[in-house]
Parts: sequence; C-alpha cells; structure tokens
Amino acid sequence: MKNKILVTGGTGYIGSHTCIALHEAGYDIVVYDNLSNSSREAVNRVSTLIGQTIEFIEGDIRDVETLRQVFSTHQFFGVIHFAGLKAVGESVAKPLLYYDNNVSGTITLLEVMAEYAVKNLVFSSSATVYGNPENLPINEESPRSCTNPYGQSKIAVEHILEDLAVSDDSWNLVALRYFNPVGAHSSGQIGEDPNDIPNNLMPYISQVAVGKLEKLNVFGNDYPTIDGTGVRDFIHVTDLAQGHVAALNYLDKQTRPKESGTTKLNSVGFLPINLGTGKGTSVLELVNAFNEVTGRDIPYQFTERRAGDIASCYASADKAKTLLGWQAELSVNDMCKDTWHWQSMNPSGYKVS
Ligand code: NAD
Ligand code: WQD
Repeated sequence: MKNKILVTGGTGYIGSHTCIALHEAGYDIVVYDNLSNSSREAVNRVSTLIGQTIEFIEGDIRDVETLRQVFSTHQFFGVIHFAGLKAVGESVAKPLLYYDNNVSGTITLLEVMAEYAVKNLVFSSSATVYGNPENLPINEESPRSCTNPYGQSKIAVEHILEDLAVSDDSWNLVALRYFNPVGAHSSGQIGEDPNDIPNNLMPYISQVAVGKLEKLNVFGNDYPTIDGTGVRDFIHVTDLAQGHVAALNYLDKQTRPKESGTTKLNSVGFLPINLGTGKGTSVLELVNAFNEVTGRDIPYQFTERRAGDIASCYASADKAKTLLGWQAELSVNDMCKDTWHWQSMNPSGYKVS
C-alpha cells in the first residue's frame, strides 16, 4: 500500500513542487491549505502535471474541527508541514499574527496528529534560525538566534518539537532547515508567485527581467565577501522537493520494526537537517548568471544595506547526504533558467494577465 501524506501549505511555492516529487516517488497526497498566500490555480496545474486530480482541502491549521475531519477520513503515514507565513518585514509589523499562525497553528496540528496517532512529521524550518552565524559553512549544531518574529516563530516550533520528542519517543520529527530556495519546475507551469513587490532577490530579478520592475536595488556592496555583496546558499526548489522525499523515505525506513516479531518502532526523535548546496553565491554573481543564461540585462544600483541582513550564509550539507542520501544536483544556472522560464511564461504569476 502507498504511504499517504498530508501536505499542509501544499499549494504554496515549495509545497506545490514537493507535491509533484511526492507523487513521482509513489506517495499518495492530500493537500491542506487556507490559500492565504497561494492560489487554487497552483492545485490545478499540479494536477495537470501529474495527470491526476489532487485531493485538496481548503482549511486552516488553526481550525481543529476541520483538521479532525481530515484525519478521521484518511489514514496518514505522516505530515509535511509547510503551512506558515514567511515575510520577515510583515512579521515585525504583525508579530501576533505570525506567532498565532506559525506557532499556535503548529501546536493545533500536532495535537490533532497525536489524537489520531500520526507521529511522523517533516517541518519547514529555515536557515534563519542560525541568525548571524559564527562559523561557515553552518552545521546543524550551530547556535540558534534570531531578531525578527518570523525567525523566532521557527525557533519556537523547533523547541516545541524537541520537547515533544523528549516527552514521547513515538514521535519522529524532522526539521528541514532550508537555505535560499529559488527556481521553478522545469515545465514553467508552477513557480514562485509573490503577492506584492518581492522581498527576495531572485523573484525581484525576474520581475525586472520581465519588465514589471525597473531595476534591482543591491542592498550593500561593502560586506566582507568576494565582491562586497551578500553571499547566500541558493538552492533549486526541485532539489528541495527531493529533500522532502528523502526525509520521508528515511522516516519510513527508520520507523519500520527491525526484527521480526518486534512491534517496537525505532524512534527518530527530533532531527534538524540543513537543505542547502553547501556553496555560497553573491548577489552580483547571481545577477551575472541570470544575465548570461537568459540573455537579459538586469539593470541594478547599489543602495544601503538592508536592516537585519548578514554578510554570508551557506550550509554544511553533510548531514543530509549522510543520513538521507540526498544532495542538491542543480546549478545556479539551472536556477536562473527555470526561474526565467516560469516568469516569462507567466508574467503575472497565477493571475490572468
Ligand atoms: P508559501 O507562502 O508559498 O507557502 C506557504 C503556504 O501555507 C501558502 O500556500 C499559504 O496559503 C499556506 N498557509 C499559511 N498559513 C496557513 C494556515 N494557517 N493554514 C493553512 N495554510 C496556511 O511559502 P513557501 O516559500 O512555499 O514556504 C513554505 C514553508 O517553508 C513556510 O513554512 C516557510 O516559512 C518555510 N521556508 C520558506 C523559505 C523561502 O525562502 N521560501 C525559506 C525557509 C523556510
Ligand atoms: C538575499 C540577498 C540581500 C533583495 C530571506 C529570509 C529568510 C528565508 C529566505 C524564510 C541578501 C540581497 C535582496 C533585493 C538585494 N526565508 N537582496 N536586493 O535575506 O537571505 O533570506 O529569505 O525562511 O528567512 O530572511 O534572502 O532573497 O531576501 O536576500 O540586494 O531586492 O540578496 O541583501 O544579501 P535572505 P533574500
């Protein structure tokens, strides 16, 4: 029998790509999303790409009754929990909304999972939990700190998961700490679709390329980096999606009874894992790669550093390779090519232009 997975936030950017990877890997999926930052059109497109109608439930992770309905209708092997708000600036303006949605919402989800004895979870954490790292590349043992409510909400959920694992060893809780996800599905049918002016670098570049924005502001050129601009570990969303499949496969393998006749399962506990490429790329290097791959010319100007930004951030990706057998395969050029393919085919994202 196929393992069935509940994908919260499955209509969003990373969730929609992961649904495709899960389907291809043989998992059954049920998507649960309140559409607060995504579009029903993403579900339609994923259904077309996989050649099968996705089971989609419009619901909020804070809504205990709807969650109960879903868990009583389906027998899940586990949950991939993408649902959450992610805009750092908005989190500073609306901290209660972020703690309610991201932290209270996760507690409600975990309570319902416990009620229905579904104890396998893959949680979307973030490299943001490392704050301003002391050492590079960043490994999973690095201390956690953060100065904005969004990042605090991720740290808070990680602490909750750790405590839960200590309280009851039947929980298997993987926190995947994503570095900087970019790119889009190679079909050009699904991709990142920010609501307003993008906060993040790659969608900003692609909107300049398509003519929606005039030029890129490069936030600072006096960092202690290769060319003075910020360095990040950009990772293709397709690789990231495969990382989730690898995490589920790991949970499946680890939680199977090892000896015949034994019913006791092996506990994974709380397991934080970086998903990054291990390679840093500067803002200017990314702009140049985009120009080269797409034949576009992205006009830019240097401006002040953005408050809260750090100079450099890239992962040690060793743990994912050792434990999950996963590593990123796609290059920065692939990330630029696929971003441009999606953006040029869908200049207004999922909205009809
Ligand atoms: P996204 O906004 O595209 O997807 C999140 C989805 O969750 C959206 O479809 C939204 O409608 C849904 N959602 C939000 N609150 C909900 C709620 N209360 N109930 C039900 N659904 C809800 O974002 P994404 O980029 O796909 O990110 C997915 C996850 O990964 C988030 O938790 C995010 O914090 C985390 N993450 C993202 C990045 C990144 O740069 N994109 C980096 C690190 C971590
Ligand atoms: C990358 C680099 C900017 C925009 C953020 C969140 C983090 C995580 C991923 C969820 C930096 C520079 C950017 C622009 C620029 N999300 N830049 N001009 O800041 O590494 O991470 O998204 O967990 O929590 O903080 O990503 O893409 O915003 O910036 O020069 O218009 O690009 O200064 O050096 P960041 P980013």
